[in-house]
Amino acid sequence: MTVLRLRVPGDKSLSHRALMFAALADGRSRLRGVLPSADVRSTAGVLAALGVDVATEWDDADEVIVVGRGVRGLQEPSTALDCGNSGTTTRLMAGIVAGHLMTATFTGDESLSRRPMRRVARPLAQMGARFVFARDDGLPMTICGGALRALSYASPTASAQVKSALLLAGLVGGVPVRVDEPQRSRDHTERLLAAQGATLVVDDDGVALEPGGRLAPLALRIPGDPSSAIFPLALALLLGRAVLVERVLVNPTRTGALRVLARMGAPVARLDETISGGEPVAELAVERVPGLRGTNIGGDEIPSLIDELPMLACLAARAEGETVISDATELRVKESDRIAAVVSNLRAIGADADERPDGLVVRGSPRPLAGRVTTHGDHRIAMAFGVLAALPGNDIAIDDRECVRVSYPGFWAQLAHVATSA
Ligand code: S3P
Repeated sequence: MTVLRLRVPGDKSLSHRALMFAALADGRSRLRGVLPSADVRSTAGVLAALGVDVATEWDDADEVIVVGRGVRGLQEPSTALDCGNSGTTTRLMAGIVAGHLMTATFTGDESLSRRPMRRVARPLAQMGARFVFARDDGLPMTICGGALRALSYASPTASAQVKSALLLAGLVGGVPVRVDEPQRSRDHTERLLAAQGATLVVDDDGVALEPGGRLAPLALRIPGDPSSAIFPLALALLLGRAVLVERVLVNPTRTGALRVLARMGAPVARLDETISGGEPVAELAVERVPGLRGTNIGGDEIPSLIDELPMLACLAARAEGETVISDATELRVKESDRIAAVVSNLRAIGADADERPDGLVVRGSPRPLAGRVTTHGDHRIAMAFGVLAALPGNDIAIDDRECVRVSYPGFWAQLAHVATSA
């Protein structure tokens, strides 16, 4: 069988961080493979509004140059900081702004404005930053940053955005910060800042940052996003095609979905694993499998696959038996309430699914699926159901195909390529 080779766009979490941390470095950073998506452009736009010399438009092939302003060198913005649809932009930049002597107002689109921001405001206020919310929670949110105090924080949720915001506030504000988490969230901030010369100590419960010193500029080639790779891999599995995705980030805090796929009867091979820019990178390959079976997904593995759950739930609709997803209440505060959105859309196309407070149950079946999917403007809902829509025999319409631009430009063309190549 011929193997279809694909490349997915650069990792979103790493792209945001590379731009931000380069802005805080001394000197010029050279970044390749930066994801050219709306979310990452929101980060570039916010950095530009804070006085950073950085492109706000680029392509996959372009090298993005960022001229760093030093650890506390950002300028007070003269306009609101528009974060678009991007939670990572808002929460990480909230930490960076909190460490500067400046006032800034964060705004965003309708979906982002509804998402919880008190989860970063509360600990940052304990450090001494002041917050003004236009409503109870969410955006617009104004931060008066400045002289911060040290913090030791036991985070109630495993959130890399909260953890990163606090570490960045400590770094910029020049005070020690410790963050403990109930489970380990993605650790790109720790890896990247350490590579730039920051002092971070990671132990079983969390991470501690000792401030001081400068950050070295970055020379990075950002690998493909595993949260994007899951979509062509899933389609290939459902179609029985052999596909290989080149140069994907395989950091263990991000690969929970690969372990779940193995349990479902679809092992994903990792080839040529190497370390690049302090992160493990590999080719991911799938071959034809006899069929998928349902599984239980929950507990400590949830943070390592949180963004992949919509796709895993849609795969479960095509698996034999029942799949139960638990301990995933965080899904309710993503770009949409993804528990409600996945279940209502699965039902809308004729699949068998039930909502639970902390997750969902899906009972798989091979029967054709048909109906209209309401994305709520959520890119991962559009893409997960897009995979089901690409299967022969299904007749599924997606109400908003454009929203994929926040994380995966070129998604629909790539999906069609997988669907049509024999
Ligand atoms: C992200 C962390 C996760 C994830 C999001 C990206 C990051 O969110 O869902 O897509 O880059 O730090 P939480 O920190 O809210 O868990």
